[in-house]
Amino acid sequence: MSSVDQDVSKYRKYWNLAEGVTYLNHGSFGPTPLVVQEELARWTSLLASNPMNFYVRNLPDYLDEACQVLGDFVGTSGDNLVFADNATFAMNMVAASHYLKEGDEALFTDHEYGSVLRLWRQKCKEVGASIVVRKLPNPLGSDEEIVETLFQAASKKTRLLVVSHVSSATAVILPVEKICQRAREMKIPVCIDGPHAPVQVPLDIDKIGCTYYCASLHKWMSAPLGSGFLYVTPNQQQHMKPSIISWGRNMREDAPTWKDEYHWLGTRNPAPALAVPSAIKFITETIGLDTFRDYTQGLVASARQSYRLLTGLDYDLGLDPIPTHKPELAGQHRYGSMITLPMPDFVPNPDAQTGLHPLRVFLWDRYQIECLLPRWQDKLYLRISCHLYTSPADLDRLMTALAEYFETLPR
Ligand SMILES: Cc1ncc(COP(=O)(O)O)c(C=O)c1O
Repeated sequence: MSSVDQDVSKYRKYWNLAEGVTYLNHGSFGPTPLVVQEELARWTSLLASNPMNFYVRNLPDYLDEACQVLGDFVGTSGDNLVFADNATFAMNMVAASHYLKEGDEALFTDHEYGSVLRLWRQKCKEVGASIVVRKLPNPLGSDEEIVETLFQAASKKTRLLVVSHVSSATAVILPVEKICQRAREMKIPVCIDGPHAPVQVPLDIDKIGCTYYCASLHKWMSAPLGSGFLYVTPNQQQHMKPSIISWGRNMREDAPTWKDEYHWLGTRNPAPALAVPSAIKFITETIGLDTFRDYTQGLVASARQSYRLLTGLDYDLGLDPIPTHKPELAGQHRYGSMITLPMPDFVPNPDAQTGLHPLRVFLWDRYQIECLLPRWQDKLYLRISCHLYTSPADLDRLMTALAEYFETLPR
């Protein structure tokens, strides 16, 4: 084993990542820290020890307490949050409830996630509404330019705006607070697709002022796989319509709330949601949010620099080069703990039939590296996610692998 291989992050001990694997795709599927896995097992064991007691007497309180802890972290009352398995579930809950009719339009940016667009295309088709996808400036300019460009596509017909807080393929942070401010002036409801935001960026949902906020918590928060949430603004909560019909109340027969339809979905294991507070505690107390952001954003900055040295190519999606979470620069940066970098032109496209890229196969087979190779606007990119378990040696390994792969290609 080389000295580079031994250089592991001091935080890696908190995970049980497979030895030898360089995991640079936290942005897709976040591995769960051991302490959160233990909490997940503890809740599951408590449930198994007496399901009657768990579901009928205690579950409403357990969920309320977990919601309040989550609410404190994401900047709203826990009363406005329901747990969902992930952002996809949460977005589907919005799609099942949000009223759209024939002739209405739903507005999206060109950075939105594929399955989110697919969902809304389907929903719009069903009711005779249409989808408008607005191209944002490329590279993205200031917050104001983004807002101006986006709202050029808005009109009286626009009855919903769906926008990522941090986008998937392009990993850019969008100015959601300013977008919501303009949308409120035009009385357009906004649904924020936010699975990459909690922990990666400071989050204050009440301050953002959206109608809905959807998130997965297995990503940057490192809560269990299968945990996420939906926020609904108070005056919209009474209009929420479930697509999964169960009893519509909790098993304790408490006074009804809008959450009842979502928190009792038949008999299932709610442990992923109940373990969310342990993930918040891990990241805020064991690690510290500033430590998390300084460490992971520092890694991203060094990945960017090494990539520039290797390829001559630089970050080209946003104008602002400083990755930082410093409040005085809030809104002035476009990436955090994850960065999307352009691939050289001589790198071929993925296999037309399978969609698989030979580089992805090479990275895994030869180096056991996991990362994402998104295509966006007909261009191939490399998305690198840096979490606490990532080390500078992981990034060196990626650069070594890329250099070796590039050598095999004709120019
Ligand atoms: C912007 C965005 N929205 C939604 C999703 C869906 O998240 P999940 O698969 O956790 O439901 C993703 C997943 O990567 C995403 O990046």
